[in-house]
Amino acid sequence: MTRDPVYMDHNASTPVRPEVAEAINRHLGPAFGNPNSIHRFGRQARAAVEEAREHAASLIGAASPEEIIFTSGGTESDNWALRGAISAVEGRGHIVTSAIEHPAVLDTCQLLEKSGVEVTYINPDQKGLVSVGEVAAAIRPDTRIVSIMWANNEVGTVQPIEKIGALCRERGVLFHTDAVQAAGKLSIDVNSARVDLLSASGHKINAAKGVGFLYIRNGVHIDPIITGGGQERNLRSGTENVPSIAGLGEACRIAKKEQPFESREIASLRDKMENEICERIPDVVINGDPGNRLPGTSNLGFLGAEGETLLIRLDLEGFAVSTGSACSSGSTEPSHVLLAMGLPKNAVQGSLRISLGWGSTEDDVNRLLEVLPKAVERVRSIAPRARTASGS
Ligand SMILES: Cc1ncc(COP(=O)(O)O)c(C=O)c1O
Repeated sequence: MTRDPVYMDHNASTPVRPEVAEAINRHLGPAFGNPNSIHRFGRQARAAVEEAREHAASLIGAASPEEIIFTSGGTESDNWALRGAISAVEGRGHIVTSAIEHPAVLDTCQLLEKSGVEVTYINPDQKGLVSVGEVAAAIRPDTRIVSIMWANNEVGTVQPIEKIGALCRERGVLFHTDAVQAAGKLSIDVNSARVDLLSASGHKINAAKGVGFLYIRNGVHIDPIITGGGQERNLRSGTENVPSIAGLGEACRIAKKEQPFESREIASLRDKMENEICERIPDVVINGDPGNRLPGTSNLGFLGAEGETLLIRLDLEGFAVSTGSACSSGSTEPSHVLLAMGLPKNAVQGSLRISLGWGSTEDDVNRLLEVLPKAVERVRSIAPRARTASGS
């Protein structure tokens, strides 16, 4: 009997909740109007968009729904925050960010550098933590924006966002955070964290792909990067993706209600899984900060194994996991996050990200535990590599 495949890659994408699918479907049927039309079809679509805006605002503690602008996802939100902040002020300016950001931030910074913007990339410590002192030291008189992610997508390390927010406020610099992995998993309050701009994405919180939002604090001005018909208060043109936005609103509503409980459950499942793996398999290291990370994220270094080979082996056995960031997969480049953390080469090569989330069960974990020790042994025997953490 073949068993259902087990999905353990929730940091790459998440299954759509049935309530979210229902909300999406409502606007694929008779409620198909353009939210910018004045007639009843338009008003019906507008109501759905505005309701979604309220749920998104509530999820992150925004003072007003107006501060939420819907986008095509995390990548667009990150691009917009940085490009929009630079373009809004005369002169080229300077950005402070970290070396472990998602490519949506890093590649944008690199492109901005070509047009004369200067960027300081801060390396984290070995656990993936960015130092507030280093951010403070990097801020210059011409710094426009500091962009530090709320939590890292590969190792899950949660950054000292409140401290960085307070620092940026004190120094009069805009603060953007990529909260694509944190939203819906950690409790977020943009006001106590003094965040000016925050990126979120639908498909990481059990909504559809290709939809997300950028929070823009009232009073903060950034230029639009998509211009046209003036939708979204003239900040992000293009007819709104009503079905996906309605679904995102529903996902935010559910996340707000269930996040504290669900996160606790998922963290305890992750811890059980990790403890068992470390007990049953020799020479495994935990990458990241075990005491300060996203609830479902486990990034493990199987010393002496090749992560990609292990991933393929597990896929053949019916388990979906990942190495590094799935958004830039297809490349076998070693993870820029683990390298920036200064991990030894063999821990980077043998790393595997197992990420749990809504729908993950104890049975999934038990099934993985049955298969993983043999898979690791097998992969280690194919291409033996150094098995001490200091091996090069
Ligand atoms: C931290 C982070 N930022 C941004 C993104 C990009 O989001 P999207 O896939 O919605 O464009 C991702 C996707 O993995 C992510 O993990």
